[in-house]
Amino acid sequence: MSMIKKYLDLPNDSTSKTIFVATALCLLCSVIVSVAAVGLRPAQEANKLLDKRKNIIQIGGLSQPGKSVDELFEGIEARVVNLDTGEYADDMDAGTYDQRKAEKDPTLSDALSDDPASIKRREKFATVYLVKEGDVVKRVILPVRGYGLWSTLRGFVAIDGDANTIAGLGFYEHAETPGLGGEVDNPNWKAKWPGKLAFNESGDLSIEVIKGSVGSTTPNAEHKVDGLAGATLTSRGVSNLLQFWLGEQGFGPYLNNLRT
Ligand SMILES: Cc1cc2nc3c(=O)[nH]c(=O)nc-3n(C[C@H](O)[C@H](O)[C@H](O)COP(=O)(O)O)c2cc1C
Repeated sequence: MSMIKKYLDLPNDSTSKTIFVATALCLLCSVIVSVAAVGLRPAQEANKLLDKRKNIIQIGGLSQPGKSVDELFEGIEARVVNLDTGEYADDMDAGTYDQRKAEKDPTLSDALSDDPASIKRREKFATVYLVKEGDVVKRVILPVRGYGLWSTLRGFVAIDGDANTIAGLGFYEHAETPGLGGEVDNPNWKAKWPGKLAFNESGDLSIEVIKGSVGSTTPNAEHKVDGLAGATLTSRGVSNLLQFWLGEQGFGPYLNNLRT
């Protein structure tokens, strides 16, 4: 205490007092910031979870007026899928499996040599969200990600129980340019996805974001979605990530199992 008093008693223009006051102020501020960061972490985690659930519900086309996100999420079953076999990994708990961590973990993910979505590694397991009626799967909501122009877009694609009809596509995280690639968030563009078919009659993965608009004369329009004006590279990124995640290296085996 006498040490503090010694400094405070010095004249205000003394160098030692200036350094002492500045150091004390820095220490005090760092304590306040640390306490706030630690204290707010549970609230941040809860908000992140709520946001993810909100996205799953919106992209899955499951929103209902007057019902909260948590209420609606009660009707959704989360399961972990082994991407190589397309089977559910019954020994893994979807509540605790952290897919985002697994992407970087060499024991839980593999490096990609064929990498159209530019994601470098693919995890062995993915969490999927099921909407069921009794035992029948009516819709699945699958996590997808891939590189656009500036960033990795992360989102979900919702597919009906026929493992073909797209019910929705949306991204909850990206850093594309607002007004250009950022138009992936535009509700008008997102509204173009429901009803599109991922696979053609021969079972080939055909979904594609084209350059320009899909018109009444566009061949195979049921597999095509308008490109984003002035954002061909982001649009191509969306096409690529769907090709990857709905293909053999992604959810292809799982969708095959769902179909049969
Ligand atoms: C500052 C700046 C930001 C841009 N952001 C994006 C973007 O987020 N996504 C994208 O595809 N193109 C973006 N572009 C445009 C691309 O460089 C490229 O011109 C465009 O993708 C070509 O699309 P278009 O053939 O539809 O014109 C940006 C260009 C500039 C100058």
